[in-house]
Amino acid sequence: MKRDNFGSKLGILAAAAGSAIGLGNIWKFPYITGQNGGAAFILVYLACIVLVGLPVMLTEFALGRRTHKNAVGAFKELEPNKPWYLSGVVSVSTAFIILSFYAMIAGWVFAYLSRSVSGNLINVAPDKLGDYFGAIISSGTEPIVWTFVILSLTACVVILGVKTGIEKCSKVLMPVLLLILIGLMIRSVTLDGASKGLEFLFKPDFSQLTKEGVLEALGHSFYSLSLGMAIIMTYGSYIDKKENLFKLAVQVTIADTLIALMAGVVIFPAVFAYGLEPGQGPGLIFVTLPAVFKAMPFGAFFETLFFLLIGIAALTSTISLMEVVVAFVTEQFNIGRKKATVLIALALFALSIPSTLSFGPWAEVKIFGKNFFDLFDYVTAKITLPLGGVLVCLFGGWIWGTKNAVKEIESNGLYPFSWSRLYSFAVKFLAPIAIIIIFVHSIGLMEYFKTDNGNLATTNVFLAGGVLLFVLTMWGLKMRRTSGEE
Ligand code: PHE
Repeated sequence: MKRDNFGSKLGILAAAAGSAIGLGNIWKFPYITGQNGGAAFILVYLACIVLVGLPVMLTEFALGRRTHKNAVGAFKELEPNKPWYLSGVVSVSTAFIILSFYAMIAGWVFAYLSRSVSGNLINVAPDKLGDYFGAIISSGTEPIVWTFVILSLTACVVILGVKTGIEKCSKVLMPVLLLILIGLMIRSVTLDGASKGLEFLFKPDFSQLTKEGVLEALGHSFYSLSLGMAIIMTYGSYIDKKENLFKLAVQVTIADTLIALMAGVVIFPAVFAYGLEPGQGPGLIFVTLPAVFKAMPFGAFFETLFFLLIGIAALTSTISLMEVVVAFVTEQFNIGRKKATVLIALALFALSIPSTLSFGPWAEVKIFGKNFFDLFDYVTAKITLPLGGVLVCLFGGWIWGTKNAVKEIESNGLYPFSWSRLYSFAVKFLAPIAIIIIFVHSIGLMEYFKTDNGNLATTNVFLAGGVLLFVLTMWGLKMRRTSGEE
């Protein structure tokens, strides 16, 4: 079967940035910044992006392009007859499960979009917005219908293939997204009292920063760049050998970060201008912002633009998630793209239903003490996503090896890569250790090791021991491999 490829530099950038720029940038980044005190959190986030996110992204691009295969095929080609392909299986499964509920949240956005177009949303009294949001997401049928719409739209693009579907669509949608964002930014910063919001975003107050905030920044940098679930790897597999991967990864990273900051500039000056609470949490865009739009001149118009913006951002991300699964199924099982996409979209729709119902009729249906949505979210965000991330680092850093990765990044000498040492260090040590630390924290292991009086000494000894063990194991593995090669 002949493989599709991206057709242009701009197309690759639009598609990869389209994947990275999503609900994470416009919904989650602003609200976690709000909860963690603003500017200081942003600085930590930037450091994580550069030191951990960028190197992992480069590794994923390199792995994909080296093999020109889907996530599972890539590992199989580089380490045949070894279980490393399971790492691809973990990533593809993560993408599949995440997409099932990401589409549901994108559905909420579309539900809001349709209500702002009809003028319904702008008429809701600010103190009723919480109930209004609750009524929509718990209603059962409506979110299910919207999830179906999102999955169908996504499938239509994916069926058309990489060049005619994903690339073309991203090249149209991303500039529209940027224009809307700029328009909204201008509106927001010209409101009376906007400066307090800008100060909140850009004037660091380190006393507000907590250890949890740092971990959150680290985890979010990973999620925001779409790492750890073979998306960048799959897109990398459609890139020509002559492209400069380092430049591309830097551009995607900058675009993703800039858009997140711009979303912050849209949201916080407006929130402060109307004296609302920046640390509202997940309800920030659904509950706080509509109150802001209601108060602002031409609010209905800007509100529609805002939800259109998030809708677009979400759609280019769902496309990338579906492509990971479609690439895997078409190539590993030799099924045509059309048939595979339809089947996968239907399976996703079926899986999305329990998540959707857990906000309404099935709220009390629990497995391991969690409803379906919480369970899917917990398993992916806290377990399989970090696992996929660590495995990519270990594979790229120690098994395939950073020497090979650097060769691929340099396009075999075409583009000398002067940061190769820092890159190798980041992929071999920094990134996996950082991910393991987030993992240990997020599943609550740290609490387990804490002594009663809150003394963290045991925990630190445990952590240091873990890091040492990790380094020694990797080193041993490497020695064994090199001696086997000779
Ligand atoms: N990077 C996307 C965002 O910021 C989220 C995402 C993760 C999308 C994984 C696709 C895959 O919202």
